[in-house]
Amino acid sequence: MRRAPEELRSHRWFGAGDLRSFGHRSRAQQMGYDAEEYTGRPVIGILNTWSELNPCHTHFRERAEEVKRGVWQAGGFPVELPAMSLSEPFQKPTTMLYRNMLAMEAEELLRSHPVDGAVLMGGCDKTTPGLVMGATSMGLPFVFLPAGPMLPGRWGTEVLGSGSDTWKYWDHKRTGTITDEDWRAIEGGIARSPGHCMTMGTASTMTAAAEALGLSLPGASSVPAAFSGHARMAVATGRRIVDMVWEDLRPGEVLTPAAFTNAVTVVMALGGSTNSVIHLIAMAGRAGVELSLDDFDAVSRRTPVLANIRPSGAYLMADFHDAGGLRALMSELGDLLDLDARTVAGTTLGENIAGAAVHDPDVIRGRDRALAPEGALAVLRGSLAPDGCVLKTSAASPHLLQHTGPAVVFDGYDHLAARIDADDLDVDADSVLVLRGAGPIGGPGMPEWGQLPIPEKLLRAGVSDMVRISDARMSGTSYGTCVLHVAPESAAGGPLALVRDGDLVRLDVPGRRLDLLVPDDELAARREAWRPPAPQQARGYGAMFARHVTQADRGCDFDFLAGSGAPEPAIH
Ligand code: FES
Ligand code: MG
Repeated sequence: MRRAPEELRSHRWFGAGDLRSFGHRSRAQQMGYDAEEYTGRPVIGILNTWSELNPCHTHFRERAEEVKRGVWQAGGFPVELPAMSLSEPFQKPTTMLYRNMLAMEAEELLRSHPVDGAVLMGGCDKTTPGLVMGATSMGLPFVFLPAGPMLPGRWGTEVLGSGSDTWKYWDHKRTGTITDEDWRAIEGGIARSPGHCMTMGTASTMTAAAEALGLSLPGASSVPAAFSGHARMAVATGRRIVDMVWEDLRPGEVLTPAAFTNAVTVVMALGGSTNSVIHLIAMAGRAGVELSLDDFDAVSRRTPVLANIRPSGAYLMADFHDAGGLRALMSELGDLLDLDARTVAGTTLGENIAGAAVHDPDVIRGRDRALAPEGALAVLRGSLAPDGCVLKTSAASPHLLQHTGPAVVFDGYDHLAARIDADDLDVDADSVLVLRGAGPIGGPGMPEWGQLPIPEKLLRAGVSDMVRISDARMSGTSYGTCVLHVAPESAAGGPLALVRDGDLVRLDVPGRRLDLLVPDDELAARREAWRPPAPQQARGYGAMFARHVTQADRGCDFDFLAGSGAPEPAIH
C-alpha cells in the first residue's frame, strides 16, 4: 500500500497554508529549493557521522552525496543532518561513554525535523548501535548504511589486521623481538585506506549484526569502504529508503524477536566481538524485544564458528567479502536462522540470501569444517558475577577454561599501569589478574581495558595468556582468556569490589561459573567495610551518565531511554 503525499510527516511542515508553513517554504527557498523540488516527496534525513577526527568515516562526505543521488533518482528530497561522530581511535576516555548521547541525538534529530525517513551512516564501533538505537526509538522508516571495512594492512610480507596485530607486535616490541624501526613501519602500514577496522572487531561485528537484523541492503556490510561497489551500495540505499517511506515500512516490523535471534546467531558464527552483547541488548530494549545474556549463551551453544577471520581466525574482511560475504555465511547457517524475517529491502532474509555462494571455503567454512563446532562466547555467573559476565571462548586458551588461581588485584587503570611490569609484583602464570573500577560507572563508560597486559617478566618467560577478569569491555580485535562485563560492576558494589590479592578465584567455563573462593562471613565483613567511590563528575553529561546508565547485562542504555514513542512536536 503506497501512502498519499498528504500522509507524509513532512507535509505537516510544508503542506499547510498557514503562517508556519510559509516560514518553512520561504526558508527552503533561502536554501535554493523551489517548492516543486520537495512538495509531495519523502524528505530523507541522512544522518552522517563524518568528522575530521574519525578515520573510519573519511569517505562519508562523498558517500552522503551518493546517497543523495539515489534519493533524487527515486523521487525523494535528501537532507544531510550531521550527527556526532564516535571516533574509536581518538575519543577519550572511551566512545562508549557517548554511545547513548549519539542515540539521543539521532532520535531527536529525526523527531524535531521535517523528515519522513532516514539513512543512518555509521560503522566505527559505537556509531552503529548509537544510530540504530535512536532511530528505532523514533520509529521512522530507516536503512543503515555501513561504512565498510578498510583494506588489509601490510608490513613487508606480513598482512596486518587492525587492533589484533597492534597488540601482537606491541608485545614483540616489549620483549625486543622487533626493532623501533619495525614498529614505525607497522604504524605506517596497519591502516591505509578509508573504512573501519577490518578484523572481526566491534565494527565488523555490529555492521554484520545490523544486516542480519534486516536493517541494511543485502550484502552491504562487508563491502570494503574503498571499493566502487561501496559507492554503488550507497546510491542503492538512497533509492530504497524513498520506497520504504511510501510503503511505510517501520523498524517495528523488522526488529522482531526473530530478527534479534538471527543477529545473535550471525555474531556467534562470525566469532564476533563481545561488545555486541551489550549493544544488541540495548538495541533490543529500544525495539521492545526482551534479549538477555542467557539468550546469547543458548545461541552460542548451537552455533558453529564459520568465519575464519582474525582475531579468532586467519583472514580479514576483504577476504570475507570476496568469499561471498555475509549472504554466503548466512546461507551456510541455513536452518539456524529464521528466514521469514522481514528486512528493509522489502524482502525476507531468505529471499535476500537465495543464490548466495561461498567462493572460498577456507574463509567461510561449511558447518562440517567449522572453526569451532559451537560456543564462540560463554555467559558465566557465580559468586563473583551474580548478574553475569562474558568470555569470548573462541579467542581464549583451551587450557585456561577451567582454572583456579590467586587474584592479583588492580584498582583502576592507573594502578594497573603503575604495577603490572614491576619486578616485585607477586604474580606467576597461574595468577588471575583482576581489574576493577572499569565498569559503566567506574570507568566511566566501561573502557576497553579488559585485555589486561601480561606482566613483562612472564611475557619474557614465554607466558602468552593468563586468566584476566574485569568489569571492563574488551576490543573486539583482542584475544586471550579475558572474563569481561562482570555485573554488577565494582563501583556499583558488585562482589568484584571485595576481592583481595591472594584470594582464590575459580573459572569454570564448561560449568558456566565464576566464583570467588572466600568464606561468606569473611565477604560479609568486607562488604560492611566497603564504601562506594565518590561520583567522578558532579555536573554535565558525565553526571547524567553515572545516574542513569544500566549495568552491562542490561545493555548500558540509560534507564529512561528504553522503548520507543514520544509525542510528535507541535508545529506552531
Ligand atoms: Fe573505527 Fe576500529 S577504529 S572501527
Ligand atoms: Mg574497537
